[in-house]
Amino acid sequence: MSQIKSIGVLGSGQMGGGIAQVAAQSGYSVALADISLAAATAGKQKIEKGLAKLVEKGKLDAAKSAEILGRITPVGELAGLADCDVVIEAATENVELKKQLFAKLDAACQKASILATNTSSISITVIAAQTKRPERVVGMHFMNPVPVMQLVEIIRGLATDNAVYESTVALARAMGKTVVTSNDAPGFLVNRILIPLINEACFVLQEGVGTAEDIDAGARLGLNHPMGPLQLADLIGLDTCLAIAEVLHRDLGDDKYRPATILRNHVAAGWLGRKTGRGFYRY
Ligand code: CAA
Repeated sequence: MSQIKSIGVLGSGQMGGGIAQVAAQSGYSVALADISLAAATAGKQKIEKGLAKLVEKGKLDAAKSAEILGRITPVGELAGLADCDVVIEAATENVELKKQLFAKLDAACQKASILATNTSSISITVIAAQTKRPERVVGMHFMNPVPVMQLVEIIRGLATDNAVYESTVALARAMGKTVVTSNDAPGFLVNRILIPLINEACFVLQEGVGTAEDIDAGARLGLNHPMGPLQLADLIGLDTCLAIAEVLHRDLGDDKYRPATILRNHVAAGWLGRKTGRGFYRY
């Protein structure tokens, strides 16, 4: 079982910030790292704002919020993650970046640390091969928004040790999440299903079959999805959706996974969804 007490989170954006928040809410001490101490500190401030909203709504005690924030320490260097029992990497979805980060994390972190990645589609086995401890590398894929979504998908790389897998499952459960397990295959379980849905919605829009509003209303009201696929793509980030679609297309090798031109064009235009104020919708 898990002896995990301290957690490092690398990347303080949408996903990393959510992971750090939930870890701290679950009683873990969290070192939050980003490309600089200023970026990590800004990440912590976003978490503070999110918690302040919960306090305003009367869903969280002010003292409890302060206690949660007190457990999160921004750090500017990977060395600040050295003593963590588990480091969860949540940087941009880019294979070269993740390879570099894992080589650096391997050098920086104590031998016993588990190195987990929140990648949504990049092979765990490829990432693990950048380290001298592939058996201690595992996928820990949270869903967005992390504080709200129940699921964590745990992915075993080819070399992942069973004890490491078990500790990671125990950690996800201790963070209040429900676990599903995937082997290391393109898109794992969740994005293998979701991204073709989003991509198909993009094709439907691009072909002029219907408006974005009607596509989304169709999924919301006709299928009881909480959000339509284009709204969800805007929430996830169109750059992330495209990156995953490209992995599915390349690694599964079937034309049915080909990313829609409209998705590529939105990304090329910098219309990445909510985070840039414009995607399929304006915010
Ligand atoms: N952080 C914290 N809490 C949040 C939040 C956030 N970013 N966004 C919403 N919430 C909370 C709200 O405070 C609210 O809480 P209460 O009910 O306690 O007041 C609750 O969630 C519901 O929010 P709203 O009332 O504002 O709106 P909603 O009912 O429409 O729910 C939603 C919003 C939870 C995002 C819902 O629309 C939903 O579940 N959408 C689908 C999300 C989804 O599919 N995520 C998975 C994406 S795939 C992925 O992440 C994998 C990948 O690799 C791409």
